[in-house]
Amino acid sequence: EWPRLHEVFGEYFRIGAAVNPRTLVTQKELLTRHFNSLTAENEMKFVSVHPEEGRYTFEAADRMVEFAKENGMAVRGHTLVWHNQTPDWVFENGSGEAADRGMLLARMKSHIDEVVGRYKGSVYAWDVVNEAVADGGEQLLRASKWLDIAGEDFIAKAFEYAHEADPAALLFYNDYNESVPAKREKIYTLIQSLKERDVPIHGVGLQAHWNLEHPTLDHIREAIERYAGLGVKLHITELDVSVFAHEDRRTDLTAPTAEMLERQAERYGRLFKLFKEYSEDLTSITFWGAADDYTWLDHFPVRGRKNWPFLFDARHQPKASFQSVLEAAR
Ligand code: G3I
Repeated sequence: EWPRLHEVFGEYFRIGAAVNPRTLVTQKELLTRHFNSLTAENEMKFVSVHPEEGRYTFEAADRMVEFAKENGMAVRGHTLVWHNQTPDWVFENGSGEAADRGMLLARMKSHIDEVVGRYKGSVYAWDVVNEAVADGGEQLLRASKWLDIAGEDFIAKAFEYAHEADPAALLFYNDYNESVPAKREKIYTLIQSLKERDVPIHGVGLQAHWNLEHPTLDHIREAIERYAGLGVKLHITELDVSVFAHEDRRTDLTAPTAEMLERQAERYGRLFKLFKEYSEDLTSITFWGAADDYTWLDHFPVRGRKNWPFLFDARHQPKASFQSVLEAAR
């Protein structure tokens, strides 16, 4: 009988998993055994809960929150304001033209009031704004309809509305490529300016969609130290370790090679040792899934190419990666 992951790391951080209505059933045993935090992979996003103006659909999200309660797990909410998975009506005025700033911010506020309000006391932390920083180039913020219409303070507004809706919730800015130095500095600049303006932001979410060698351990360490220096909490929000390198587009594998599994175990061991070192700042580690039977990476960057990014295999058995994470706890 293997020890439970969340118990092993209990004094350091929460261990979370992203779930969807299907995995909540198919991975039930595994989830309740090893994890003490849940995040909805898609079911709390704008398009899922608010498909039409004034019409909210909370069934799937409610079911996940119920599951978490029944099993004594925490819930991280994902996500309120994002350029993706947001319906077109949000940005339109009803006559086929773009909404204006006032209209868009009013919609943002009602959305946040409704969603954050509903889960007040159940969702302890929210990814309030997701992926607003530009990856490359000189621009700080990514081009989006939020930015176009509402201007750059759409970010501050989102945090203010969320704080009003639930003053006790921890509010996060969440992004990917968070450990790549150029983007890290942009994220740092954004958070610093929010803090300077006393915007209610409490944390930075590092998505951590990583692979066997990228980003380097040094870059991850530097990112953690840099963000922590802003006096915010850090959560790892979407961890997975792809067994493929960036440029590897092979689609012929039906199982991971022994070498992939070995390298992944080594990588996970190093990562969790590092996380442990920073557990004063780093209070939650959420995987973007739970076991290799399902991952969003099965469709990214190559549709239909299987990946094996987790600690548990497709039959929910511990992999070498699980064992090396356990060793990292000692
Ligand atoms: O629900 C529809 C379904 O009705 C339709 O028949 C089907 C056909 O493609 O699509 C379904 O929607 C899919 C949705 O997941 C729910 O399964 C979308 O096509 C698909 O694009 C969407 O992918 C999600 C992706 O975000 C969207 O950007 C992934 O599941 C989800 O894992 C992923 O999660 C993101 C985080 O929110 C933010 N950080 C990056 C991370 C990975 O991309």
